[in-house]
Amino acid sequence: MKRIAVLASGRGTNLEAILEAVERGDIAGEVALVISDQETAQALQRAERRGVKALYLNPKDYGGREQYDQAIVDQLKEARIDLVALAGFMRLLTPFFVNAFPQQIMNIHPSLLPAFPGLDGVEQALAYGVKVTGCTVHFVDQGLDTGPVILQEAVPVIQQDTVETLHQRIHASEHRLYPTAIDLFCNDKLKVEGRRCMIIE
Ligand code: GAR
Repeated sequence: MKRIAVLASGRGTNLEAILEAVERGDIAGEVALVISDQETAQALQRAERRGVKALYLNPKDYGGREQYDQAIVDQLKEARIDLVALAGFMRLLTPFFVNAFPQQIMNIHPSLLPAFPGLDGVEQALAYGVKVTGCTVHFVDQGLDTGPVILQEAVPVIQQDTVETLHQRIHASEHRLYPTAIDLFCNDKLKVEGRRCMIIE
């Protein structure tokens, strides 16, 4: 059974979808730890409600980004974590963190990467005027949303869309896609060859 940690800064609806999938038996793993950089993140309450260990680590308590990431990595190692799932974790990981978990960190992003990386992926897509956007689950490397793509799902943009309505439909898509990608990892079905992530049949 793989041990998963989820890192989240905000509402935590992706965390909730992951926890529900674990409970249904749709993910062959368990969420052993949730960490947030925001004291009031709803994600922490969602974890506690389901009896999952939830930890708030305040970046201001550490000397810098590397020291902060060291503290997170210490917690992850202590909890014997196999997979780190970033779910709305709004910090760029340092190389130290990425190297501590090679091909073991995933992220979900609200666009079809490589389009619209970084902050506000939904706003960027709407402002650009694309007719199709979506979401991407990818492995995390040292760049900003640049790691190998694991799964993607398209979401059409409709004329009446606002950032909120579009993000709502992207969220629905994320809540299907992320648990699927995590389950593939937990079943050792993902293999990265260069930039391409293959699904082993
Ligand atoms: C999600 O839409 C996720 O794709 C996005 O933050 C949202 C978190 O929602 N992540 C990024 O934009 C990362 N650059 P949630 O807290 O309800 O899961």
